Amino acid sequence: MKQLPEIRKENGLATFYVDGKPFIGLGGELFNSSSSSTEWMREKVWPALRPLHVNSVIATVSWEQIEPEEGVFDFSVVDDLIADAAKEGLKLVLIWFALWKNGASTYVPEWMKLNREKYWVCRPLSGTRVLSAFFGSVVDDTISPLCEEAVAADAKAFARLMNHIHEVDQDGTVIMMQVENEIGVIGSDRDASDVANSVFNAQIPEKVAKEYGVTGTWEEAFGTEACEHFMSWAYASAVEKIASAGKREHNIPMYCNAWLEKHPDRPGIYPSGGPIAKMMRMWRLAAPSIDLQAPDGYTSSINEVLKEYTADGNPLFIPETGTNVRAASIVFAAVCEYNAMGFNPFGIESVFGPQRELENGVLMGLNIEANAFANSGTQNYLPDSYQLLRSMMHLIIPARGTGHLRGFTQDHDESGVTFHFAEYDVQIGYGRAVQGKPTAGGAILEVSDNEFYVFGTNFSATFLPKVGEGVFVKPLRIEEGRFENEKWVRGRILNGDELRANLPFKPSVLRVRLYKYSAH
Ligand code: DGJ
Repeated sequence: MKQLPEIRKENGLATFYVDGKPFIGLGGELFNSSSSSTEWMREKVWPALRPLHVNSVIATVSWEQIEPEEGVFDFSVVDDLIADAAKEGLKLVLIWFALWKNGASTYVPEWMKLNREKYWVCRPLSGTRVLSAFFGSVVDDTISPLCEEAVAADAKAFARLMNHIHEVDQDGTVIMMQVENEIGVIGSDRDASDVANSVFNAQIPEKVAKEYGVTGTWEEAFGTEACEHFMSWAYASAVEKIASAGKREHNIPMYCNAWLEKHPDRPGIYPSGGPIAKMMRMWRLAAPSIDLQAPDGYTSSINEVLKEYTADGNPLFIPETGTNVRAASIVFAAVCEYNAMGFNPFGIESVFGPQRELENGVLMGLNIEANAFANSGTQNYLPDSYQLLRSMMHLIIPARGTGHLRGFTQDHDESGVTFHFAEYDVQIGYGRAVQGKPTAGGAILEVSDNEFYVFGTNFSATFLPKVGEGVFVKPLRIEEGRFENEKWVRGRILNGDELRANLPFKPSVLRVRLYKYSAH
């Protein structure tokens, strides 16, 4: 077996090691049901991924499929998935769709669905029940994280899956696991079953008291935020049992993903108890086997999300974001500014599919913006962003966290940003947002005091002297080009009318060398 994948923290910077080397996943998440059929994958999905320049893909494995009868396991679809991904030269992140998927327990096996006595569901909190816009009350389809029998059964099945992966995945194709999906209770502030009520009204666990410096019952300790803290503790404790059972069989990195808190920002409308930014502290405390919390980043304020999910040393991994053309620019900020280990638009197999415009229905229910999956234009830019970043990994990886690499992406109608390097300040001017084309996004890499690579899409870079320096700055030479096998291959030398560090919509890279001279 190859060296197991791991996340190493070096000088406060998290690096994902795959096959013993640093790895940044440029990929996408497949639609929920795609990987349930090998035939579907072979006909529709693997071919659709080939032109995208992805190096990894996130696919699902559902509990109902691998344990159709209690104690009887069928891993054939997992085996095909691993073998086919390896043939395509792709790494796999697998989602364990088990007790919870977007709050609900729709992926549990039939034998569990049909035994609600033993595997009991959450109850809404009477009087304060809230309804999610689309789902109505998912709470009555959500097995309680306090149902010990259900959590134990999930942990057992997950351990079997991880044991199987350990046996069959000798080449190390599976690099990380997502445990469950967008956890939390929808349709109620919290579980109000009898068991949940008695735990809620008891003293908080000692560990929680110590971490937060509070005492008493959940309500006494957390006041108006008691329900969400309580649910976070309950879910994270359940996930810890599941993830640790899996890690004992095959110790690879694992994460949980979050349906983010956004308007209407009330727990129970977004899932109450999931790893949203303000609950990450509770999640870290109760689920130490989970290596990172990951945002499902469907929002126009993506910079805020990238910041929140890198706070307190949380390694950044984006398991879901829109497949709209913005993905082609966001990826530069994620990788070059926030050190993302992976970036994944959702429904990646649809990028080259029929063009979709705005969509409401399901997306409204999931509180995702209507343009998240409007894929017009994505195919013209996202593959280029991926190809460009992959060709520069030998420079990007060692530059992360040094201050020599700065990335950005345009939110809303921001007009630009300024970066400060040793000898120069660089003013980035964002290009205009045009329908079907990427917004501004890119990065500046300082390779030496007077030499930079400027790369990305739809922006201009102006190099200035340091404030008060009293000198002129001019380009010595600007070259277009590309990297081939880690070597710079130049294209045109830009001078005359083209003498500008302007990046077009097509994701590209310029090499800029500068000089300064005094006016006196
Ligand atoms: C978020 C979920 O995590 C995914 O499984 C998927 O349902 C997407 N939303 C979009 O539909």
